[in-house]
Amino acid sequence: MRLENSYCSLFGAVLLASPALGCGGNAVPFDIPSVITANNLARSNGTMLHKKIALNNVRVFDGTCILPPSTVVIDGPLIGSDTTGAEHIDGKGGVLLPGLIDAHCHPANMTHMQELAKWGVTSGFAMACFSQELCSSLTNHTGLPSLLRTSVPASAPGSAHGNISIAATGDISLVINGTEAVPSWISRQLADQDPDYFKFIAETPGLDQATLDLLVKNAHQYGKKSVTHAATREAYAQAILSRTDHIHHTPLDHEISPALVENMLQQGQFSTPTLTMMRTTALNNRTTSSNNFTAALSTTSLLHKAGVPILTGTDANTQTGVPATVPFGSSLHDELENLVEAGMSNIEALLAATVTPARAFGLWDRGTIQVGMRADLVLVGGDPLEDIKNTKDIKRVWIGGVQVGQQQ
Ligand SMILES: *[C@@H]1O[C@H](CO)[C@@H](O)[C@H](O)[C@H]1NC(C)=O
Ligand SMILES: *[C@@H]1O[C@H](CO)[C@@H](O)[C@H](O)[C@H]1NC(C)=O
Ligand SMILES: *[C@@H]1O[C@H](CO)[C@@H](O)[C@H](O)[C@H]1NC(C)=O
Ligand SMILES: *[C@@H]1O[C@H](CO)[C@@H](O)[C@H](O)[C@H]1NC(C)=O
Ligand SMILES: *[C@@H]1O[C@H](CO)[C@@H](O)[C@H](O)[C@H]1NC(C)=O
Ligand SMILES: *[C@@H]1O[C@H](CO)[C@@H](O)[C@H](O)[C@H]1NC(C)=O
Ligand SMILES: *[C@@H]1O[C@H](CO)[C@@H](O)[C@H](O)[C@H]1NC(C)=O
Ligand SMILES: [Zn+2]
Repeated sequence: MRLENSYCSLFGAVLLASPALGCGGNAVPFDIPSVITANNLARSNGTMLHKKIALNNVRVFDGTCILPPSTVVIDGPLIGSDTTGAEHIDGKGGVLLPGLIDAHCHPANMTHMQELAKWGVTSGFAMACFSQELCSSLTNHTGLPSLLRTSVPASAPGSAHGNISIAATGDISLVINGTEAVPSWISRQLADQDPDYFKFIAETPGLDQATLDLLVKNAHQYGKKSVTHAATREAYAQAILSRTDHIHHTPLDHEISPALVENMLQQGQFSTPTLTMMRTTALNNRTTSSNNFTAALSTTSLLHKAGVPILTGTDANTQTGVPATVPFGSSLHDELENLVEAGMSNIEALLAATVTPARAFGLWDRGTIQVGMRADLVLVGGDPLEDIKNTKDIKRVWIGGVQVGQQQ
């Protein structure tokens, strides 16, 4: 298996594989049904925890600058305007950011969700839902990140990800053998998984161009966005040609050509480079020149300079046996640093973690601090426009108006 192609869905595979399916060797003991039960039992009575809070003396990041100290009202799950009857909290001149969004992660249990929350990640995109029950058991938890769910990642028979999918699900009919299989695969995913968006895999060998194109077209016909995994230059070119909405990862083998960059820009596609994952993968395996982190950084830089919108995604997972383990939550802050290293300004990096992913996925209720938006807020001590590392100096986090750590 080509390792540079294999992360992402691999996490789900290792997680779900049973020894009977031949993956016992590297499977971490993880009893899926009991994890699902535990996740579902952890749901608390959310609305009881909603309060009205006047958060005084905070310097709001409004997407362009840090405003002078003011008061932000948290009114139930939303940002309000009227302080009448509110409990007052002194923000001590801290900087208030919109909740951070991890556009690519693989949480599986409450600990992972709590880690995300603790680090100010208020929305996450689960990027490989081999088990709808498992992904669903993580959604709708008061005081924990709002989690959006994908489909089973679409892959081809005999490909690295196709093998992963079959190992994870035991179901050979979940891989896609050519264009004829596409409409029924899409319909089945809609019925079984009810995904918020679709995930497709571009890899070599893998789905051919016609199949990738048709998958995107079918997803769009059902009003769903598509995210395509592409970790080599060849796969990246296929993803661009397919007109998928989002391309995740950045090639570790070569930087992409200016023509491809221009094509991606013209088609309005979004990039989630997952540089934290690419860097760790490259560091873990230096035996080959095709694990070249500089190439991934350089592609990100080219995309950004051209004007392709960039999103923060981490590929956070805690599995062993994947090219790289990436911690939940703290990695979002590492990704911000990586994006700055790729040439983005601190402001641009913050937008990549807030309003850009919200708009890119059509989530109009979050991403900015404005009256009527979800009260997803992160209060930090220092000024992230001076030093992006200051996002790690977290004082308090609210998710849907509930302060993290106070939901019990
Ligand atoms: C390192 O990466 C190369 C190319 O992707 C792969 O063939 C090799 O098996 C990897 N080595 C390890 C130890 O993961
Ligand atoms: C909600 O809270 C009440 C009182 O604490 C409890 O009896 C009830 O079981 C809870 N419901 C759920 C769905 O957790
Ligand atoms: C969640 O999984 C991690 C391993 O990734 C484990 O350390 C932790 O104890 C688990 N938490 C729960 C609540 O099962
Ligand atoms: C989410 O939880 C709330 C309160 O516990 C409940 O009323 C609502 O139906 C749940 N929504 C979903 C989609 O599960
Ligand atoms: C997938 O599994 C098949 C059957 O074991 C194997 O022949 C093939 O090489 C695997 N594909 C990859 C890319 O590893
Ligand atoms: C894929 O379909 C072709 C015919 O279109 C067939 O020859 C081949 O055996 C199929 N492969 C798998 C793995 O089902
Ligand atoms: C790594 O990528 C950079 C940027 O594209 C390139 O300049 C460099 O030559 C590459 N290194 C290797 C070993 O291929
Ligand atoms: Zn992933």
